[in-house]
Amino acid sequence: MAKKRSDSARIVWLPGDGVGPEVVREARRVAERAAAAKGVAIESREFPCGGLYWQQTGKEWPDGAFETCRDWSDAVLLGAVGWPGAFLPNGDLAGGGVLFGLRFGLDLYANVRPAKLYPGIPHRIAGSFRTVWPPESIDMVLIRENTEGCYAPVHGQLSRGGTVEVAVDSRIITRKGAERVIRHAFLTARARNGAPADGKRRVTCIDKANVLAGCRLFRAVFDEVAAENPDIEHEYFYIDAFMQALVRQPEHFDVGVTTNMMGDIATDLAAVLQGGMGVAPSGEIGERHAMFEGVHGSAPDIAGKGIANPLAAILSAAMMFDWLGARKGVRAWREAGAAIERAVVSMVASGEGLSPDLGGKASTAEVGNAVLRRLEPAMRRASSSSARLPRRRRA
Ligand code: NAI
Ligand code: MG
Repeated sequence: MAKKRSDSARIVWLPGDGVGPEVVREARRVAERAAAAKGVAIESREFPCGGLYWQQTGKEWPDGAFETCRDWSDAVLLGAVGWPGAFLPNGDLAGGGVLFGLRFGLDLYANVRPAKLYPGIPHRIAGSFRTVWPPESIDMVLIRENTEGCYAPVHGQLSRGGTVEVAVDSRIITRKGAERVIRHAFLTARARNGAPADGKRRVTCIDKANVLAGCRLFRAVFDEVAAENPDIEHEYFYIDAFMQALVRQPEHFDVGVTTNMMGDIATDLAAVLQGGMGVAPSGEIGERHAMFEGVHGSAPDIAGKGIANPLAAILSAAMMFDWLGARKGVRAWREAGAAIERAVVSMVASGEGLSPDLGGKASTAEVGNAVLRRLEPAMRRASSSSARLPRRRRA
């Protein structure tokens, strides 16, 4: 096999269920164009997977797909998995083996979910589209522990005589799991410009330490890591109070770190701040591997209509390039990622290419086309400035 060049990256694309294939198609088109323009190459492999694939084949993904992600790829981009009525005989979500297989199998412990509001994006609250939060007030990153908590595979049901009588989900919090994700949060804060309200670098520990033993351990580890980072502010919110603060004073938050299920729930609300599920990207980061996907699921209510918003997937591809660039030490990947984000920023600011979830009429492909049209000018601006992803631009 030819020796891998430093300016080539191996990507596995996993479109999955529902809107997954629709949004991954656009993310791939944008990613390939951005990489080519920067002179870096993508080697691709794509696998079908998910609940519908399981219904058709009896497998959640083809043999060898996981090994390809683990042994061949530099990064994975996933659409979404899960489909109504597609459940394994044991009751688990069909397709969940792909998502959790990668999260656990590749040890992707930090689920990084930026909530950043771009000018021109309206919020859909109580049925209508309006500007609720000014763009400069929303720029935070929530980091969710991704390999333990309630989603560790320690659960079961007690069935006697065919009746399920007891169901148990155990929540696992470990020192190792807490420490590495909390360290990731402080490192993330260090690379940013602080909270929108006051420009201060700040990490918020989000937990329920007043009640839960696991959260007391999580908070104790948080205190240890915070003590090593005295120049970064640290604070605590109980998850319930955090949810209202997220809506009432989002400008206060810079980086938040929390356990698995609390992060799952809180980041759907954070997505509302930035325009909704169609705009919220994520990166799931481990020591050696990373996977990127929109925060959203397979959206069965709009799947097949060609109206899903691909921006979450496109921005996830931008995060993937940023991560590849940092990992490989190759500036062109980071520039390509920054250019994708700039193209999205410029597109939504113009009001062009807004899909129905953002109050517009653009189809999934039209959003992709609109981003592609803005990519070349964004590319020129990206290469004439810093190689880092643009952080907040202050007015
Ligand atoms: P969902 O995120 O798929 O949908 C929630 C709402 O957001 C729906 O109204 C949907 O139309 C909207 N939405 C989602 N993505 C959108 C996009 N790109 N553009 C415009 N609107 C969008 O969550 P739901 O309905 O709870 O789950 C559907 C399926 O997806 C289930 O099987 C679930 O298990 C699975 N799921 C998979 C995830 C993953 O693969 N990481 C994450 C969350 C759910
Ligand atoms: Mg979720």
